[in-house]
Amino acid sequence: METKISSSIEEAAEFLNRSQLVAIPTETVYGLAANALDKAAVVEIFNAKQRPSFDPLIVHIGNKSDVALYARQIPANAQKLMDAFWPGPLTVVLPKQEIIPDEVTSGLDTVGIRMPDHPFTLQLLQQLNFPLAAPSANPFGYISPTTPQHVFAQLQNKIPMILDGGPCEVGVESTIVGFEGEVPVVYRLGGLTLEDIRNVCGEIKVEVNSSSDPKAPGMLNSHYAPQKPLYLLKDIASDFSFDNSVAIIVFGDYEVKGNEQVFNLSTNADYKEAAANLFSFLRMLDTDESINKIYAFLLPEFDLGLAINDRLKRAAYKI
Ligand code: TXA
Ligand code: MG
Repeated sequence: METKISSSIEEAAEFLNRSQLVAIPTETVYGLAANALDKAAVVEIFNAKQRPSFDPLIVHIGNKSDVALYARQIPANAQKLMDAFWPGPLTVVLPKQEIIPDEVTSGLDTVGIRMPDHPFTLQLLQQLNFPLAAPSANPFGYISPTTPQHVFAQLQNKIPMILDGGPCEVGVESTIVGFEGEVPVVYRLGGLTLEDIRNVCGEIKVEVNSSSDPKAPGMLNSHYAPQKPLYLLKDIASDFSFDNSVAIIVFGDYEVKGNEQVFNLSTNADYKEAAANLFSFLRMLDTDESINKIYAFLLPEFDLGLAINDRLKRAAYKI
């Protein structure tokens, strides 16, 4: 099957209406979408990604009020968060309505729902008669795609179309939030910061490291990983020297130590810029033949630094 890259929302809708898969742009990363209410189409997503069936998908909607069609119970704090941050990089995990198939939720009684903030995908969702189930459009465990070309590099000939909405503005996935009563519980750090959530809800819990907990099956320790080894750095001795087969990912000020190739996520130490660059840098370094090893400094644990560090740690986990 030939994969076309096109900006036609009409064409994307045609494929989706025929139960086929389309890669869609969002503000976070590209998603691999299908009709969330069509079991067979949802199973195709798992096949194309080689994703294990225990890892549930997020359901994307085009209107805030649609959440009630797919969630049977909405805590007041969930409503406040949706009102404050949708469309945007927030996924809420809520008790599901019958209509959501078990194939989407991996048999869980809850469903992750989000309204993405990308004009093409919002238009697309608003004209379809169903929501879209969409994981990130990468083979399972690899770096998430933030451009149509990233998607094409790995899913060409497996899907009929990539809806071209340009590069993703946020660059890391949505923040996933469930609820214990009214208390928000963050299962995945992402494009919405903890400060943002605290400002709206006050007290929150953060449970992001429970890789064997079925509540968050996607939070596997090794994820977002390049094929080349990636090592995390705390500091480098002043007399240390790298050779030019080494790439080093830095943030803000950095003093060159030898012949290393330096990739600065943001020379001005801007967290948003760093998040938007992260996955592109990792992909570029993974395909650059002159580089054998990737080193990365963790960022300060503030703002989007938390989500960026989470991705870097999982990318480095295999080592
Ligand atoms: O930004 C994003 O969220 C992107 C774009 C495409 O929307 N999507 C994305 O999907 O990152 P994916 O499949 O790569 O990650 C979805 C994760 C799962 O791995 C799981 O951790 C969590 O969402 N999830 C989904 N449904 C859940 C549920 N019912 N309970 C707990 N976690 C859930
Ligand atoms: Mg993913």
